[in-house]
Amino acid sequence: MTQLDDSTMVDLGPPVAATAPVPRPDASGLASLEARSISAWFGDHKVLDRVSLNMPAGKVTALIGPSGCGKSTFLRILNRMHELVPSASLAGEVLLDGRDLYSAERRITDARRQVGMVFQKPNPFPAMSIYDNVVAGLKLTGVKVSRGDRDDLVEETLTKAGLWKEVRDRLRQPGGALSGGQQQRLCIARSLAVRPRALLMDEPCSALDPTSTRRIEETIAELVHEVTIVIVTHNMQQAARVSHLCAFFLASQGTPGVIVEHGPTSAMFDHPRDPRTSDYVHGRFG
Ligand SMILES: Nc1ncnc2c1ncn2[C@@H]1O[C@H](COP(=O)(O)OP(=O)(O)OP(=O)(O)O)[C@@H](O)[C@H]1O
Ligand SMILES: [Mg+2]
Repeated sequence: MTQLDDSTMVDLGPPVAATAPVPRPDASGLASLEARSISAWFGDHKVLDRVSLNMPAGKVTALIGPSGCGKSTFLRILNRMHELVPSASLAGEVLLDGRDLYSAERRITDARRQVGMVFQKPNPFPAMSIYDNVVAGLKLTGVKVSRGDRDDLVEETLTKAGLWKEVRDRLRQPGGALSGGQQQRLCIARSLAVRPRALLMDEPCSALDPTSTRRIEETIAELVHEVTIVIVTHNMQQAARVSHLCAFFLASQGTPGVIVEHGPTSAMFDHPRDPRTSDYVHGRFG
């Protein structure tokens, strides 16, 4: 996607080739995500206004803010899901490892493979086996893995998602038979199986009990060494526990969402610069 003029609403037409120089990938294989001046609309309703955010490689970035301020919309723009909504449009740029995520050379399936997503409500295929759930994304995104390597991949990704020990003896049982917390970890394993460079998580624990929540948080801490993570959460303790960096979104009185403040999580919680950030992280509104 080219840099678009934010003053006009832009339909998501065919993407245009990127002209920016392409930096070398991070030597560790980790990739940064960068949003540049992102605006978003549903029809003529503008919901984000020129939001820029750098989400560094190998870090957890938390997005916080009251309901309706555009956090999920921003997240969906980071893996090209926003454009699935017929009335949706956007302006700005998203760079994965310095490369335009919306460039004409990049297929949408490739963009979504590289930037995986885990949703609020665990959404495994309930009748499909645990094993088949893990590998379900391979076919959808065109990733080829030989039959022999599949067993290894299933074990590897379930281990990374912190679920292997609980399910290794029941891989042929349906995914829908797992508990909510286990289902969410199964969804994380399914996302990891296609080897994404970044993983987006939209309130991944909001439907879970405290023990399952803690388990997912441990998983996040382990995963961040190999995949860049962006997590939306309404739980301030969770943001403080899991994230290195934090961005506070706000849409005041019907205006589009903006980032009021962002920075290292400790600074955002202990010494926020903006009084609205202070009020929000201390639970005084939202
Ligand atoms: N599919 C859609 N069609 C029309 N408007 C939408 C759609 N999805 C979101 N919106 C609107 O966009 C704005 C931002 O919504 P979004 O879901 O991104 O907020 P959020 O910060 O994730 O909120 P929450 O914390 O409640 O999940 C809201 O005004 C919402 O009503
Ligand atoms: Mg949301």
